[in-house]
Amino acid sequence: MTRRIAVISGDGAGPEVVAEARKAVDALGLDLEWNELPWGTAHYHETGAMMPPDALDVVRRHDAVLLGAVGDPSVPDHVTLWGLLLPLRQGLDLWANLRPARLLDGVPSPLAGRPKVDMLFVRENTEGEYAGVGGRAHQRLDLEVGIETSVFTRAGVRRVVAYAFELAESRRGVVTSATKSNASRYGYVLWDEVAEEVAAKHPDVRLERVLVDALAARMLRNPMSLDVVVASNLFGDVLTDIAAELQGGMGMAASASVAPGSGTTPVFEPVHGSAPDIAGRGIANPVGAIWSAALMLEHLGEADASARLMRALEDVCRDGPRTRDIGGNGSTREVGDAVASRIRSM
Ligand code: NAD
Ligand code: IPM
Ligand code: MN
Repeated sequence: MTRRIAVISGDGAGPEVVAEARKAVDALGLDLEWNELPWGTAHYHETGAMMPPDALDVVRRHDAVLLGAVGDPSVPDHVTLWGLLLPLRQGLDLWANLRPARLLDGVPSPLAGRPKVDMLFVRENTEGEYAGVGGRAHQRLDLEVGIETSVFTRAGVRRVVAYAFELAESRRGVVTSATKSNASRYGYVLWDEVAEEVAAKHPDVRLERVLVDALAARMLRNPMSLDVVVASNLFGDVLTDIAAELQGGMGMAASASVAPGSGTTPVFEPVHGSAPDIAGRGIANPVGAIWSAALMLEHLGEADASARLMRALEDVCRDGPRTRDIGGNGSTREVGDAVASRIRSM
């Protein structure tokens, strides 16, 4: 059965890295149909919207979305992101964002002694600080107020923490939950309570509750002490940029926005943004995008193809070519070509 993949290459370096991810997947010879959706900032300038009004229905007719990045200096970021990425995550109820952070052989570490890094972040993906609840009043007056309300629901916290526990069962059997329930006394206190309730149902997995500031420090001080980390939307966002650096840089990190058990179309994308500072120069690191495609294949039930893709990607990271952000001088295309040719010669 042909699987239909929607491709939203997006803005900036997005199309450059997505092209290499597609190339690598194509080398696997699977029965896939790619459907390029020309949504993003150019679409916004043409039509006044980042994507068409029936976008969610269009996406639902696909088995997965492979996305590059969204964001361009010509439009305010809150307009572009609330016009495309966040409505996809929220509208499809993709409540978990999985972000593996593993330092691959051959990739420089920013930490002395090159400690092992192998974490899996499970980021809440639809509510929290990203709920979109708030407003502005008395604009341009000195009394102007901007309110951004965080929304935590029992059901929303429970499903993402429970998923982290399930994932921890096949890893090191510990879930680290990041909150800030000392200063924030409502939402994160609820989060902590729900986490304890979930933990009580999983005696085989240990819950460790950590305040997010201390966790950020610990990621640098002792990354090996962390395995599965579950965090709110905003904390997960910030922590995974740190995690990306621990695995070599923003260009290395991959993500999957999923709703396990729902049959909803998931979205796979690198963690990085549109990188306007390097876009168009052919130097963006495609590894995060290619890795995201491997997550996509795994999700589609193509475990063997996914493993082959990861093996090729790891071989190329170890032997080169590598892009300059991770100490090489290869181009985006050379890295993609190398991954594809490794796959073909397997
Ligand atoms: P960014 O991730 O685009 O860039 C941060 C730094 O990382 C830059 O120095 C950039 O050159 C570098 N970098 C990013 N991707 C790289 C890659 N593949 N290879 C090598 N280096 C890479 O973050 P930013 O500058 O804060 O945001 C730029 C734009 O992207 C903004 O409009 C922002 O809103 C948007 N954004 C979109 C997404 C998304 O669509 N998923 C994610 C993050 C940021
Ligand atoms: C990410 C990005 C997005 C987020 C932005 C662009 C809205 O930073 O996917 O990490 O904060 O989720
Ligand atoms: Mn981010």
